[in-house]
Amino acid sequence: MLIALAGAKGAPGVTTTARVLAAVWPRPVVLADCDLAGGDLALLGRTPDGGVLDPDTGLLSLAAEARRGVPVADLDDHLQQVEGGLDVLCGVAGPEQVTGIGPVMPAVATALARQPGRDVVVDCGRVAPGSAVVPVLAAADVVLFAVRPRLEAYGHLRERLRWMAGVRDAHGRGPALGVVVVTTAPDHRSTKDLAQLLAHSGVEADVLGRVAEDSRAADVVAGRLQRGIAHSLLVRSVRELVEPLHHLAARRVGEPATY
Ligand SMILES: Nc1ncnc2c1ncn2[C@@H]1O[C@H](COP(=O)(O)OP(=O)(O)OP(=O)(O)O)[C@@H](O)[C@H]1O
Ligand SMILES: [Mg+2]
Repeated sequence: MLIALAGAKGAPGVTTTARVLAAVWPRPVVLADCDLAGGDLALLGRTPDGGVLDPDTGLLSLAAEARRGVPVADLDDHLQQVEGGLDVLCGVAGPEQVTGIGPVMPAVATALARQPGRDVVVDCGRVAPGSAVVPVLAAADVVLFAVRPRLEAYGHLRERLRWMAGVRDAHGRGPALGVVVVTTAPDHRSTKDLAQLLAHSGVEADVLGRVAEDSRAADVVAGRLQRGIAHSLLVRSVRELVEPLHHLAARRVGEPATY
């Protein structure tokens, strides 16, 4: 299963949610960084012995292999293990590296979508029409948008969802669409309000739930603070998304294209 996390505008917490989701995922999983504006994983992650990750091993090396025209079957050569044992695919340092990668993103997407025996959680960053990451979104079983509970953010989200649904309908294949609201623990209204707004707008996307606003746990995820967060609001809230995500993934339309 390929689960793509994305944002419409602002920095709603896509990377944080993706990292926690991969950490709590109940099956073997790879966390892939396809934020083409510049990935955070290579900067934030540490090897099990505390070293820094090699930024050239990841999306860059995978794309280089794809450029040689070999179908990329084995992702393992491009993965690095981080503290805690998670396998990650590091992203690009910045948009200047994307020029060479863009043409092979369809092949990269195929590789991410075809990982027998394990799932892939991919951070796609902020997405918009024309982005080189679109093939990854199209190959995903679920595209899960993170949004903060603000009216203007909902407006941007609605447009991105319409666009994604339009791409899917035009090709007769594509991901199921979901949304999570990153908000405070007592806020039970936002998910309902957003679901209503999307339904009234004729946008087909499931609001799967909330990701708890929990700045201490988010600081730990970002490496700014050291402490246990297994029982934090953030981790517990993300854990609750696992089952709805499985259900939503079953509603993918058609099979991903292969390159
Ligand atoms: N659930 C949360 N609770 C509290 N703070 C959070 C949460 N999620 C993210 N943050 C904080 O919000 C900021 C942005 O988070 P993050 O980097 O995950 O967002 P993003 O959507 O990936 O942004 P970008 O588009 O810049 O990659 C960070 O400072 C992060 O620690
Ligand atoms: Mg990010």
